[in-house]
Amino acid sequence: MLEKIKQLLEEVNSLQAVSPEQVEALRIKYLSKKGEISKLMDEFRNVPAEMKKEVGMRINELKNTATERINQLKSSAAAKETIADDLDLTRTAYPIPLGTRHPLTIVKNEIVDIFSRLGFTLAEGPEVEDDWHVYSSMNFADDHPARDMQDTFFVEAHPDIILRSHTSSVQARVMERTQPPIRVICPGRVYRNEAISARAHCFFHQVEGLYIDKNVSFRDLKQVLLLFAQEMFGPDTKIRMRPSYFPFTEPSAEMDVSCTICGGKGCSLCKGAGWLEILGCGMVDPAVLEANGIDSTVYSGYAFGMGIERIANLKYQVKDLRMFSENDVRFLEEFTAAN
Ligand code: PHE
Repeated sequence: MLEKIKQLLEEVNSLQAVSPEQVEALRIKYLSKKGEISKLMDEFRNVPAEMKKEVGMRINELKNTATERINQLKSSAAAKETIADDLDLTRTAYPIPLGTRHPLTIVKNEIVDIFSRLGFTLAEGPEVEDDWHVYSSMNFADDHPARDMQDTFFVEAHPDIILRSHTSSVQARVMERTQPPIRVICPGRVYRNEAISARAHCFFHQVEGLYIDKNVSFRDLKQVLLLFAQEMFGPDTKIRMRPSYFPFTEPSAEMDVSCTICGGKGCSLCKGAGWLEILGCGMVDPAVLEANGIDSTVYSGYAFGMGIERIANLKYQVKDLRMFSENDVRFLEEFTAAN
C-alpha cells in the first residue's frame, strides 16, 4: 500500500497538461469519486490498525499534492488560452495617431521664419489691452471711427480695457521698453466686432513688423517686403505699393503681390486684376515715435502688418474663413508642415 502511494505521488508531481481538457482528464483520473485516490481510500479499510496512522497521513499528503498540482496546471492552461485569444503577436503595434499643425500656425511659422532670417526677433503682447496701447499711442484721434463699438470689443464695466483690434499695440509695448535699434516681428490674434461670414470673422490673426534705427527709409521697407514676397510666394513674385492711410504711418501704403495663380495675367482668384492685396505698411509717424519715448529727430522707422488668414488663403485657396476656426479634423489633416 505504501509503495503504491509513493508511486502515485511521483506520478502526480510530474503531471503535465497544456489544454484545459487535458487538465480535466487528469482531475478525473486522480481526484474524482472513481479516481486513484478514492480507490486508496476504499482500500484504507483493510489496512491493519497499527499502520492506519501512517497510511492515512500518506494518503492525505498525496491528495493535497494532487489537488495543488492539478489546480496549478488548470490556471496556467487557462492563462495560455486567454493569451492565445487576445494577443496576436504577429500584428503591428497599435498606430498612434499624430496630429497635424494648424494651417494658420504653419503659415505664421513660415512668415516668422522668413523675417527672422532678415534679422527680426519675435515679440508678443497681450490680447486684452488698454486703449493707450491699441489706439492713443498709435496716433488715433479721440474720435477716430475705429474706436467705435462697430469695431472694438470692450470689456464690460472697463471702457478703457479692450480686446486688441490689431497687433500694432505690440509696437507700442516694444517701443516703451526698448530704445532703437528695434527690429521685431509680432504675430498674434486680434478681435473685431464683425458679423461672421465666409469672408470675415470676429477674430483673426496678424503679423506685425517694426524696424526703427537711424536713417531708415521707405527704400528699406520696399526691399524687405520684396524679399518676403519672393520667399513666401516664389522668386518670380512682383510687388506694387499703392498710397493708403493709417493713423500711425506717414506715408502709408498697401502692398499687392502679383497673382499667385496666374502670375499677373488675370484669373478668377485676382478677379482679372493680376494683383492681390496682402498687407498695409508705411513709415512710422514721428508722432508715434514721440508718444512712445523715441526721439523722432534721431530715429526713423517702418512698420507693416498683414493678416495670416489672408496669406493662408492665397497659399491654400480656402474658400470659407470659418474653416480655420471650426476644428474639422478632415480639413486640418489636409495640411502638413515641415516645421
Ligand atoms: N494695423 C494695421 C491694420 O490692422 C496694419 C498695419 C500695420 C499698417 C503696420 C501699417 C503698418 O490694418
